[in-house]
Amino acid sequence: MGYSTSVYNNAADKLAERRLAAEKQADARRAAIFRQLPRTRELERDIALCGTAAVRAVLNGGDVQAEMLRLRDKNLALQKELRQLLTENGYSEAALEPQYTCQKCHDTGYVEKQGRTVMCACFKQQLVACACEEFNRIVPLKLSTFDSFQLEQYSKEVDPSTGIAPYYHMEKIVKYCKAYAQGFTPHSQSILMKGATGLGKTHLSLAIANEVIRRGYGVMYVSAPELVIKLERERFSRDSDGDMLEVLTGCDLLIIDDLGTEHHSSFTDSQVYTLFNARVLNNKPVIISTNLTMAQLEKDYSNRFVSRINGAAQKLDFLGEDLRIKRGRV
Ligand SMILES: Nc1ncnc2c1ncn2[C@@H]1O[C@H](COP(=O)(O)OP(=O)(O)OP(=O)(O)O)[C@@H](O)[C@H]1O
Ligand SMILES: [Mg+2]
Ligand SMILES: [Zn+2]
Repeated sequence: MGYSTSVYNNAADKLAERRLAAEKQADARRAAIFRQLPRTRELERDIALCGTAAVRAVLNGGDVQAEMLRLRDKNLALQKELRQLLTENGYSEAALEPQYTCQKCHDTGYVEKQGRTVMCACFKQQLVACACEEFNRIVPLKLSTFDSFQLEQYSKEVDPSTGIAPYYHMEKIVKYCKAYAQGFTPHSQSILMKGATGLGKTHLSLAIANEVIRRGYGVMYVSAPELVIKLERERFSRDSDGDMLEVLTGCDLLIIDDLGTEHHSSFTDSQVYTLFNARVLNNKPVIISTNLTMAQLEKDYSNRFVSRINGAAQKLDFLGEDLRIKRGRV
């Protein structure tokens, strides 16, 4: 399944911006180095001349092999001198070259593979990131951050029903979520956020999303009811949300909020399971939040789904008083 033109163009633009920025920086750096170390410019020119001389040697005939060996030695000596000159003056050996983000495709988005031009992995990753961005546009991501999360909203008193003081418990959860977001990799663990309504599950999952997006990963946030609608639509119309399945399975982090509030059918349940399973098998993380207890999850979903979540996800139990109600009272 392909991506929409706007997603494709956005991704290509991002790559082009990266490439042009690297080349612009390199131009400025080269100019400065040539001013400071004029010999580097001569060396670079002489290295290029070795190349033309080699072509000429072949065209002219004669003892081509001996001439080629001579030129090769000369070329190596010039390169060595250039590297030395740069490193002795505190530059890296490649200081005259653009420093591309992707070493494989030099930020062009394409590489040669077995004689064919194919899309580079960095371009595919950028496509997923841009598709996520497009899908997430309607989500008020920016409002829920770690900075706007107030720990003092949770009570320091021990709750007799659990024997735990919510404040200290939530302090650990926030710490875990922050470390998770800051150390995120596309193979991080999955998380199951459980707890009653209004305890900050959505807030913290969006805070993770913000940080992980900031670090350049593709994050897709979707509520379970929305997910089910999208999956249904995908089922009946081939080209509705063209990129949907690709992004749900391919994004670096998938967040499914409010699991349990969606409309159940055997089709959607199996689709949600298949999606989760596919991601777990590929070592790709999912954050699921739900009001349901483990027992309720077992009742509402298949055993294999619940045992999959159980095995794959770090469970975080949210405790405290409903912050929506509490706020209303203050
Ligand atoms: N610790 C917090 N500091 C500041 N605001 C918070 C905090 N926790 C939650 N909120 C805010 O309180 C409201 C309810 O929180 P949130 O939506 O995250 O709860 P939830 O656990 O996802 O609830 P539900 O299970 O009903 O989805 C939101 O507006 C959220 O931004
Ligand atoms: Mg929520
Ligand atoms: Zn690349």
